[in-house]
Amino acid sequence: MLNPVKHFLQFKDLTRAELDHLFLRTRVIKERFKRYQPYHSLADRTLAMIFEKSSTRTRLSFEAGMHQMGGSAIYLNTRDTQLGRGEPVEDAAEVISRMVDVVMIRTFEQEIIERFAAHSRVPVINGLTNEYHPCQILADIYTFTEQRGPIQGKTVAWVGDSNNMCNTWLQAAEVLDFNVHVSTPPGYEVEPERAGLFSTAHYEEFRDPMDACRGADLVTTDVWTSMGFEAENAERMTAFADWQVDTDMMVAAAQDALFMHCLPAHRGEEVAADVIDGPHSVVWEEAENRLHVQKALLEYLLLGRVEA
Ligand code: CP
Ligand code: NVA
Repeated sequence: MLNPVKHFLQFKDLTRAELDHLFLRTRVIKERFKRYQPYHSLADRTLAMIFEKSSTRTRLSFEAGMHQMGGSAIYLNTRDTQLGRGEPVEDAAEVISRMVDVVMIRTFEQEIIERFAAHSRVPVINGLTNEYHPCQILADIYTFTEQRGPIQGKTVAWVGDSNNMCNTWLQAAEVLDFNVHVSTPPGYEVEPERAGLFSTAHYEEFRDPMDACRGADLVTTDVWTSMGFEAENAERMTAFADWQVDTDMMVAAAQDALFMHCLPAHRGEEVAADVIDGPHSVVWEEAENRLHVQKALLEYLLLGRVEA
């Protein structure tokens, strides 16, 4: 019997040992790229990217990454493919996965990508769903490790919406054994089942965002209204008004705390301009690392453990 196909649909699809390997490979691949040293381990491989929501970073990093590794990437969206005209996800998966080597999908419900993966002959990568954004958290944790060393035992403060980013941080905390201090407005609390958690042991909830930030090694946030939730925007602007990461929160955090944001950001809403543009912020390094970490992920899903 063939080995089952390895997908990356949620953060916990990778074990700690696999993540250690992935981060080591990320460093090697990034260093080669910085030295302009060609590395074409994915020659002749093709990635199909299916977008049901907008993207700058995800599209660019996957497309550039495949190109840099000697392969190619094809951009598909639901506006001008049959996916937008009601072709069943299962049928699309059967067909697309016979023509390419790997598929990345950005869509709405997690269930859609799970159904696609169940009918795919090739690895499927979650490029963001309503529930999770695992590629982003790979980049964030790699960035933290690069700047500050291992994340195990550290404290991450999450301020704002319990959205796809928050859920994925919580999953990562379980896999990599760190703590998350979460502060959301009332009515927007974490739903452990939706977050796909085994327990509530790796996070603590705080009413006051300032308390969540106290002593944290990393403070992070995201937009108040995620893609797909635009109809709730006015209501959310009011509910989240006190959940802006500002300099007082960064002062309350550890002295060498980092600030991260997956981007795009709204200065003056979820983050003050002097925080995102200030000395604690590593948002540009974080964005760049999407490229490097996803190249390592593509290589791992397609070729397994490469040591070269
Ligand atoms: N952070 C992120 O996923 O950005 P895009 O929406 O631009 O892909
Ligand atoms: N939570 C945001 C992340 C965008 C990269 C969204 O889903 O819109």
